[in-house]
Amino acid sequence: MNLSRERPAADLETVRVDLGGRGYDILVGQGLLADSGRHVGAVAKGRRCAIVTDETVAPLYLDTVQASLEGAGINAEAIVLPQGEHTKDLGHLGDLTDRLLDLQLDRASVLVALGGGVIGDIAGFAAAIVLRGIDYVQIPTTLLAQVDSAVGGKTAVNTRHGKNLLGAFYQPRLVLADIGTLETLSRREFLAGYAEVVKYGLLGDADFFSWLEREGAALCDGDAGARRQAVMTCCAAKAAVVADDEREAGRRQLLNLGHTFAHAFEAETAYGTTLLHGEAVAIGMVCAFELSVRLGFCPSEDAERVHRHLAERGLRVGLEDFADASWTADRLLEHMAHDKKALGGVLTFVLAHRVGEAFTSSDVEIGAVRALLEDALRV
Ligand code: NAD
Ligand code: GLY
Repeated sequence: MNLSRERPAADLETVRVDLGGRGYDILVGQGLLADSGRHVGAVAKGRRCAIVTDETVAPLYLDTVQASLEGAGINAEAIVLPQGEHTKDLGHLGDLTDRLLDLQLDRASVLVALGGGVIGDIAGFAAAIVLRGIDYVQIPTTLLAQVDSAVGGKTAVNTRHGKNLLGAFYQPRLVLADIGTLETLSRREFLAGYAEVVKYGLLGDADFFSWLEREGAALCDGDAGARRQAVMTCCAAKAAVVADDEREAGRRQLLNLGHTFAHAFEAETAYGTTLLHGEAVAIGMVCAFELSVRLGFCPSEDAERVHRHLAERGLRVGLEDFADASWTADRLLEHMAHDKKALGGVLTFVLAHRVGEAFTSSDVEIGAVRALLEDALRV
């Protein structure tokens, strides 16, 4: 099955990530995979390429991408990894880098990461370290990857100490976001990505959040125009943030809205399938707005809007469905303290003055966080 092959590479839109000599384009459109060879060829230094994908994405899209690359005169070998978060570890990274070296790639070769955030993160990290760095192209096939993980150059694998603790900032040469690939995503995976879409509205674009309140239902039900507009808006927002603060010294931290809470929930569910990353982010954003209200920064109506919109779209907004008696506020706080973004033991929270106006704070009274978590666990 080659789901994008017959579709025309319709009108493209482009967002530039402006990082000087390391800058790159994000191309957004429908049917882009079928034209991926031409786009990759335009940035590739040589004519050799390795496509890294997973076993779910491969039967859907690998042939299309491989044929397009070959058609553009690029020799394209495929490496197919198991799907799922557990692939993002050192064992799979070692195997992947060995397989890349087996292909006898050289520094003019390009790696193509075809898949969701798991493939993008591990393949991007492999690209950063093989031969001390080869070029790579992101072809994200989940909503989460198209609006977040494929853009901005964060690459990583997980370790027994936690998530994303080994990695590199390493920017791709190009991102190809084919909206058509979202049609084969499960509703659950789509909604998890939708949480990250909502994040952009909440952190800096109130008009976009209002647009999502109007168009979100159609978008989630498959409206291609709405999906494309949302991906473009999110990529433009992320590109601007990354261009301004590539290494997360300041403004990029806003992209972590909801994530301090989310990482604690994910750690407690052992990064399994109980709670997907985006699902944890949805609950985390509700917590961040509730905390902002409790600390007197944000009107309660704004927190209610966030809660209502995420719940209406079908995302979980509380812990009641899966937290059992083993969950305690202290355990969650302990997970937060181990977050890699904690500096000298001090946690930075992303809070909000209102929808569309987030800010960071490193002096949140931990008692307020504990009380909020205790209330969330009591429901
Ligand atoms: P994922 O890569 O595991 O993909 C989710 C599932 O969807 C997988 O089973 C995959 O095989 C399948 N899939 C992918 N594309 C599909 C398609 N078009 N049709 C059908 N099935 C498809 O998960 P994800 O949600 O894309 O990414 C989560 C990962 O991204 C996490 O590891 C997270 O840490 C990372 N992440 C990284 C960044 C960053 O900036 N680098 C940002 C956010 C998240
Ligand atoms: N996903 C958050 C970031 O890229 O900074």
